[in-house]
Amino acid sequence: MQTLNLLKNSCKAVASFSKNRPINSVTEIKITRLCNQRCRQCNIYEKQTEPKHLTYTNFRRVARRLQKYGSFVGFISGGEPILNPELPEILLYSRKIFPLSVSLVSGLYFDYKKISKIVNLCLDEDINIQTSLDGLDELGNYLRGVKNHSDTILNNMEKIATKKEQMGSKSFLYANCVLSAINLSQIPEIINACKNAGWKVTIGLYHSLIETTKVDGEMIIKDEGKFLKTVEFLKDNPDILNLNTFIEGLPRILNNDFPDLCPFVDGKKSSTRLTIMENADLHLCFGEEIGNLLEDDLQSIFESEFYKQRLAQYRECKGCWSSCYTQKYLLFHPKNPQQAIHNFRKLLNLEVAAK
Ligand SMILES: C[S@@+](CC[C@H](N)C(=O)[O-])C[C@H]1O[C@@H](n2cnc3c(N)ncnc32)[C@H](O)[C@@H]1O
Ligand code: SF4
Ligand code: SF4
Repeated sequence: MQTLNLLKNSCKAVASFSKNRPINSVTEIKITRLCNQRCRQCNIYEKQTEPKHLTYTNFRRVARRLQKYGSFVGFISGGEPILNPELPEILLYSRKIFPLSVSLVSGLYFDYKKISKIVNLCLDEDINIQTSLDGLDELGNYLRGVKNHSDTILNNMEKIATKKEQMGSKSFLYANCVLSAINLSQIPEIINACKNAGWKVTIGLYHSLIETTKVDGEMIIKDEGKFLKTVEFLKDNPDILNLNTFIEGLPRILNNDFPDLCPFVDGKKSSTRLTIMENADLHLCFGEEIGNLLEDDLQSIFESEFYKQRLAQYRECKGCWSSCYTQKYLLFHPKNPQQAIHNFRKLLNLEVAAK
């Protein structure tokens, strides 16, 4: 069933590619604006708009449009997606839309009893689980604005890893750790804690590029010595999943020395990343929505004047070095055969690690 689905989506991707439209490889769907954490870097929980959640009915409408266009990898995110009461139905439906993988992106800040059913559903359906850990003990509480953060998350991570073993699930478990000026000295310890819990780690980088992120001066990395030491530690580190080319380029942020490219413009076909909000608005990087998937088809959005204008605006952008956008560009645009082999190996390792 998934193979047939993959084949159909691949044909649609070829059609998009030949017409100079994006291949929709990665879609993040934020199914709620509510959250039970209060992170310094994020403002989604401050939104007061209606609806709070993307309902299952509307999710299916959106999903059918994604299916019609062709889609591959899905992230069911938020806010805190577990607060959406229709999450089980949404996850099951997602499996039909995204033939390569579906990941639940949850902060996991709950008592395990409250999340065990949804965890079991994910493990049963081979749905990956992504969480966040960027500080231990008091630092975790400070960054995430809640009490007892790292103990709660690590305890849940351990239980989920044990359950995965018991069930023989192929779900992939990983925690995203956002680097900021506040947590650089804790990075080795955080990675180690995740490893001990049986989880892999992805490294993100604090930014304030998009609508749901917040400017926090304290988080901006300025200490060159400390940062370069952290980057050295992360290079070729087998416990992290990022591409080497992304890690090696991290020092660029110290002097805003960004490459002269925008993934949405220069990697339009391969590296466009879609974010769908709880009201079905479709976002690219910064700026207002470029359409709404309850009203518009993806193809007509990508053929609109509005989309062209947005790309023209992005062409003038001063650049970025971000795990979501730049790293995807680097994956599909290796500069030499060594980089291509490294990228391919990383993808293979993901498969192996999931098993
Ligand atoms: C928006 S959250 C949604 C899922 C869930 N609430 C969580 O925190 O894991 C997804 C990821 O984005 C990261 N994130 C949020 N704001 C960010 C920012 N300003 N810069 C970099 N990463 C950010 C979070 O730390 C998290 O790992
Ligand atoms: S980063 Fe995630 S957990 Fe933190 S406030 Fe934002 S949505 Fe909630
Ligand atoms: S270069 Fe492109 S992806 Fe990066 S911040 Fe600018 S518009 Fe966004």
